[in-house]
Amino acid sequence: MESLNIARGATATPRTAPPPCTVTLPTQLHPNPRLLHHRNTTNKTKPRHVSCRGAIDRRDVLLGIGCAAAAAGMAATNTNTSLAAPIQAPDLGECHEAVDVPPTAPEIPNCCPTYVPGRTVTVDFAPPPPYSPLRVRPAAHLVDRAYLAKYERAVSLMKALPDDDPRSFAQQWRVHCAYCDGAYDQVGFPGLEIQIHSCWLFFPWHRMYLYFHERILGKLIGDDTFALPFWNWDAPAGMSFPAIYANRSSPLYDPRRNQAHLPPFPLDLDYSGTDTTLPKDQLIDQNLKIIHVMNMVYFIFQMISGARKAELFIGQPYRAGDEPDPGAGSIELVPHNPVHQWTGDPRQPNGEDMGIFYSAARDPVFFAHHGNVDRMWQIRRALLFPGATDIPDPDWLDAEFLFYDEDARLVRVRVRDTLDAAALRFAYQDVGPLPWLDARPAKGSAGTPAPATGGAFPAALSTTVRVAVARPRTSRSRKEKEEEEEVLVVEGIEVPDHSAYVKFDVFVNAPEDGGAATAAAGTCAGSFAMSPHGVHRGGGREGSTARKTVARFGICDLLDDIGADGDETVIVSIVPRCGCDSVTVAGVSIGYVK
Ligand code: C2O
Repeated sequence: MESLNIARGATATPRTAPPPCTVTLPTQLHPNPRLLHHRNTTNKTKPRHVSCRGAIDRRDVLLGIGCAAAAAGMAATNTNTSLAAPIQAPDLGECHEAVDVPPTAPEIPNCCPTYVPGRTVTVDFAPPPPYSPLRVRPAAHLVDRAYLAKYERAVSLMKALPDDDPRSFAQQWRVHCAYCDGAYDQVGFPGLEIQIHSCWLFFPWHRMYLYFHERILGKLIGDDTFALPFWNWDAPAGMSFPAIYANRSSPLYDPRRNQAHLPPFPLDLDYSGTDTTLPKDQLIDQNLKIIHVMNMVYFIFQMISGARKAELFIGQPYRAGDEPDPGAGSIELVPHNPVHQWTGDPRQPNGEDMGIFYSAARDPVFFAHHGNVDRMWQIRRALLFPGATDIPDPDWLDAEFLFYDEDARLVRVRVRDTLDAAALRFAYQDVGPLPWLDARPAKGSAGTPAPATGGAFPAALSTTVRVAVARPRTSRSRKEKEEEEEVLVVEGIEVPDHSAYVKFDVFVNAPEDGGAATAAAGTCAGSFAMSPHGVHRGGGREGSTARKTVARFGICDLLDDIGADGDETVIVSIVPRCGCDSVTVAGVSIGYVK
């Protein structure tokens, strides 16, 4: 059944892998007076809560064990499986201002959905009946006039709904803002925000966000087969801004976009904040290579048993009581983040709309972008690794979200409800063989690696950092490599200004001109890209607004490709591309992922 959902002609070719990252984000609420008059009367500003977190295990908090007991060591006996700690659905009655929205935003929205205490009932999600029609999502560049007319009518009807209807466009885009800009605290952890990016909630949450958005649009036009389009940016024909969104008189139009990137300007999936001067043909070739590098993560999935390998694709664990942003999966980092940045309007203070999370979904193209992000997950599950489980961890499977459905009912969804697209009755148009399955990055240069630049850590990324890194093990057997992926870890990436787009590339044994190499080069381990989130106005829990991040890159294949698997030391280059002037890195090491 699921084979319906992906392109014919593709084969399950294992590939190798790049990055997640880890961000530690201090959390504190500072009411912004500009917000107060926007807020629903039912939504409150949260008092600042100083917790003892950091000294205790989150499960002690869940159990109500106090700081003193925890500090005395009781927490130490807990393990990840001893007690469930999935992220719980937010309490909509406690929704408050979205504290991550930067003060420079032209208009600071109230991102809380309509909620009437005592009247709003929450129901548990049930999948659509198996006999209900399959919604087949078309590639945005392939839709016909009849489809476009339907889609435009649905979006204008959504935009015409009263603002207090949770299905209105005005509320629909704010759903995203609430879950990514700090409008919800975790239940039981006042002051600790729910963040659905940079962690293992990224794919499931966005899947269900699209699911309900699509069903609302379909309901508005009385069409239960209606399906959202996807931006087919992994195929050459889809590697420009989708033209259906660029018509100024369409409800799909948004004036806050980069005017230099309108179609047919080629999409740069490796966007570093400046436009390349490469001819279009070469740009497409470069995109295929980046997609290939991302596919390296599928290789890890296949080669390593258990849940941890899945985390390199899905994202890092994020449980109740955890600080936000433990680390993004590979697709979220690139191309998800660069495409947001490439689309957003540089004339706006924060790259609105697509270039910053709070406003991203105000641009209808958001839903097409995330259609393809979701399709990447579907391709992995149904085609590259059919039958593979994602992450068999109850803290993932039982994590919950709330959405309003097409009948304006509030629905509680768990991650385990989101995994099977066929059961959710949606699929993606077959657009032919996946063009990237046979793309390979250029073989590494035969030249001598540029020498390490030395210098101590923490190192500033205002310039290229080149460091010699010891490999604990060399020339391992194929079986050993299958059991444990070698992972290059860039530790303690500190981003003081997370209102800016940050991107750097990481190379292994790059030659002297490595600074000019692109992420498509064979020596590239991957890219780290971080979309601006916002700023956590007023400082964080520890009085700092900095984010700390870890990026991980699987490098088994890379080392084989560049003939360095026998080397006891490799030279790792970190090449800043964008927004890195104040970024520092605490260290670089090599580890292994089972
Ligand atoms: Cu929730 Cu593409 O971001």
